Amino acid sequence: MSLVGLPETAVKESRDRVRSALICARFELPKGRITVNLAPADLPKDGGRFDLPIALGVLAASGQLPPRALADFEFLGELALTGELRGVDGALPAVLAATRAGRSVVLPVQNGDEAGLAREASVQVASSLLEVCAFLRGEVELERARREPERAAACVAPDLADVRGQPSARRALEIAAAGAHNLLMCGPPGSGKSMLAQRLPGILPLLEETEALEVAAVASAGAGPIDPARWRQPPYRQPHHTASGVALVGGGSHPRPGEISLAHNGVLFLDELPEWDRRVLEVLREPLESGHITISRAARQAEFPARFQLVAAMNPCPCGWAGDPSGRCHCSNEQIARYRSRISGPLLDRIDLQIEVPRVQAAELRPDAPGGESSMAVRERVEAARRVQLERCGLLNARMGSAELLAHCRLQPADQTLLERAMESLQLSARATQRILRVARTIADLANSERIGSAHLAEAIGYRRMDRR
Ligand SMILES: Nc1ncnc2c1ncn2[C@@H]1O[C@H](COP(=O)(O)OP(=O)(O)O)[C@@H](O)[C@H]1O
Ligand SMILES: [Mg+2]
Repeated sequence: MSLVGLPETAVKESRDRVRSALICARFELPKGRITVNLAPADLPKDGGRFDLPIALGVLAASGQLPPRALADFEFLGELALTGELRGVDGALPAVLAATRAGRSVVLPVQNGDEAGLAREASVQVASSLLEVCAFLRGEVELERARREPERAAACVAPDLADVRGQPSARRALEIAAAGAHNLLMCGPPGSGKSMLAQRLPGILPLLEETEALEVAAVASAGAGPIDPARWRQPPYRQPHHTASGVALVGGGSHPRPGEISLAHNGVLFLDELPEWDRRVLEVLREPLESGHITISRAARQAEFPARFQLVAAMNPCPCGWAGDPSGRCHCSNEQIARYRSRISGPLLDRIDLQIEVPRVQAAELRPDAPGGESSMAVRERVEAARRVQLERCGLLNARMGSAELLAHCRLQPADQTLLERAMESLQLSARATQRILRVARTIADLANSERIGSAHLAEAIGYRRMDRR
């Protein structure tokens, strides 16, 4: 048996699995030479998903299955030597594509939960080659993939109530959540930056069904199976600062989505931002604006969605204590400048909210000190502010384009002057200025104010701390 059509290793080995599975299932292996042609010829094929279709193709071509029975179906599945089916990667995007093409899908039981998320799809699951063949001969029915009823939206993110003190950081987090703005937190070690970032998904609303399907489809192609019980929760990705460019943005000879795509419609948290390789960070610039990433490899291109909310954290200097009232920082100005210059201007320009997170005071940590507000209370305000935004122009504030900015972010003349003065004194770019307007819009929406007021604008300008230096 020979395979043509650019099979990669896992597909070439399909020969042995298919042969063994056919023999185990007591089918006849046709005598003579078999050529399996994987079309289109110039698209490389990877993975075990072709086993089942190859086996069925051999059976149909040798008259052991009625070929017409195959006509309305797409099959995918890896075969064990015994003919059992095994789950494959990327089942959900395959199911969505088959559904768009108006076809039914048969796939391994292991992929049933995932495939069931696609409500409009017609998907049946099987556990072995024999079962699929019996179905195609009309002898048995296959079970349909069904979506599990969603469990009550128990949020898995930790609760904001755990965070003591830090009122201004909590406020910035709420604004970031409400308008999907990017956020950078700068503060000494142990002040709660990572803690705050991990609590962002808990104050975001659940995803709409179409958004959640996009997330699940990317995860299916890149991160393994998704839990149908919490598939509508926004994703949260926290890659380590040693991650490579490919791990962050995607790639590989068989292009796979990277962290920025796995964070699509959710949160990408980059901790210890200055420790990241600068070249790796620079590739974020384009997807931060466009919301998707195109990966070009030799003959192929793959495009993945990457509309994520960036949250980053950093220490203010190499020792971590610059600006602390204790005066324990001994870094030289030059050291501090060099440390901060690891984050490029263009990247900083794209971060709407830049805040300082100071050390927590001892009194705030006392066991009897009042705890913070819970995530649920904050989420209600975030949801209300988002409803206002979506009703106004169908977009979250961070995603408003120039037209929407003109229409919905008008300032009073005095405020316009304030903004222009800030542009001058902070040397803000046009992009940064637009971002200030978007943040001001979110602050006004949180205050349920139709107009952007002076206080809203002033607060938004105050969030560009790092530009000031
Ligand atoms: N504001 C805070 N309220 C309660 N606990 C805190 C706070 N800040 C820090 N902690 C405690 O310190 C630990 C380390 O905080 P972390 O968020 O990792 O700090 P950072 O990322 O700023 O270095 C947390 O796990 C938590 O137990
Ligand atoms: Mg940390």
